[in-house]
Amino acid sequence: MPRYFIGIDVSTTASKALAIDESGTVVASHGEAHELSTPRPLWSEQDPRQWWAATCASLRAVLQQISADDVAAVGLTGQMHGLTLLDAGNQILRPAILWNDQRTGPQCAAITEQVGAEWLYEHIGSLMLPGFTAPKIAWVREHEPEVFAQAAHILLPKDYVRLLLTGAYVTDVSDGSGIALMDIGRRTWSDELLAALDIPRALLPELCEGPEVCARVSAAGAEATGLRAGTPVVGGAGDQPATAIGSGILRRGQTSITVGTSGVVFTANDQYQPEPDGRLHTFCHAVPGQWFHMGVMLSAAGGMRWLHDAVAAGSSYDQLSDLAAAVPRGADGLVFVPYLTGERHPHPDPLARGAFVGLTLRSGLGQLVRSVMEGVAFGLRDNLELLRGLGVAPATAAISGGASQSPVWRQILTDIAGIPLYTINSSEGAALGAAILAAVGAGAWPDVPSACNDLIRQVDVTHPAAAGVADYERLYPIYRGLYPALRQSFAELAAFEG
Ligand code: XUL
Repeated sequence: MPRYFIGIDVSTTASKALAIDESGTVVASHGEAHELSTPRPLWSEQDPRQWWAATCASLRAVLQQISADDVAAVGLTGQMHGLTLLDAGNQILRPAILWNDQRTGPQCAAITEQVGAEWLYEHIGSLMLPGFTAPKIAWVREHEPEVFAQAAHILLPKDYVRLLLTGAYVTDVSDGSGIALMDIGRRTWSDELLAALDIPRALLPELCEGPEVCARVSAAGAEATGLRAGTPVVGGAGDQPATAIGSGILRRGQTSITVGTSGVVFTANDQYQPEPDGRLHTFCHAVPGQWFHMGVMLSAAGGMRWLHDAVAAGSSYDQLSDLAAAVPRGADGLVFVPYLTGERHPHPDPLARGAFVGLTLRSGLGQLVRSVMEGVAFGLRDNLELLRGLGVAPATAAISGGASQSPVWRQILTDIAGIPLYTINSSEGAALGAAILAAVGAGAWPDVPSACNDLIRQVDVTHPAAAGVADYERLYPIYRGLYPALRQSFAELAAFEG
């Protein structure tokens, strides 16, 4: 009898179900879109009922291609940090407040003031940031006390889907880390922080490890989705750690660089080793006994989309890449500062902006394109430098996302990173990571590394070119000097814009 493992990904844009067989081959996949609501500036919300409706539709579509009787386990992943508040009868109390909602600046400042920035880096593995769940809880308590008074359960997006699927209130330690109420080194809730913030432990879900079977599909879950009642459900992972598992990033130093709209540098570590100034997220990995560091650039390939739309809408991205390839390294002395949507790492600054520095009469479209490619690569390099500062120096990294499709951009990224960058045989991302965790939970592999060893392969490698590395080593300190030089001007421009 065949055995299949399903990964469910509750992302910001869609919920998707993906099934793999015992060889790791994707046998079925289906997604259904969600809508996002921004009722006020800085707000970003979603109706959790959409997640469940889209998950049910996706599972039903997948189960038309494979039999529910052959599904050995299910794993969940999804957008991290989202606050879903339920009353004692599991009714949704307000729209979920998402990871990219920026309303909680004052709550982050108050929590940091109360417990101290250093205490936070040491225990929650990061600065307290508006994206995280804890300051959202504080916001609801302050601004909607009548809602908070009814709250009986706090869940992350994928864990709300788990509740409807199984009846269990559970999150895994990697997604739980992003709530920012865990003692990350001990992989448990922080009683100290819960007491300091007066958040009852009973509001929070149970914690489990990524590949651990923590629940089973209930009769109601089976009725709604077509899965068999009793099917085991594993903890799963937040979308970033799940994507890392789907890319084979599991052990200390193994690294991936994703250059999509945003840019992410992700590295595994076998010990809890927070960045001393909290300039990276250091969270529990979904691989038991492992942690991860993550640096996030809010605008990466998003910068190229902006340039294309603003000044070159008539050109294809391939044409823009060809223009960049014809321009020398350093774009004739033009440097792009990539903070078009503020920045998270290494400069947590919502007011940071973009800039071209060094324009001359010789700066044409090719120079602009090349400097955007280089500026984004320098922003990623900043995050690699933080890892090097921790002694977790990656020797090589997996590269993915839109930018890796352009040969010239990929060479720029490689030369500026200074290490070989490789692509892998899968682009299924987070849902594949969740399916792998399900397969390990069902015993198809003894552990996550054995599964990834069998399933994930390097496809092709780009090596740093000596001349490129040398040129960019000269340019990088110039790039590094620009944010400190411009920070004050960025703040004044934001105030002027009003
Ligand atoms: C991780 C993060 C995003 C969200 C949405 O810290 O904010 O990756 O999980 O994708």
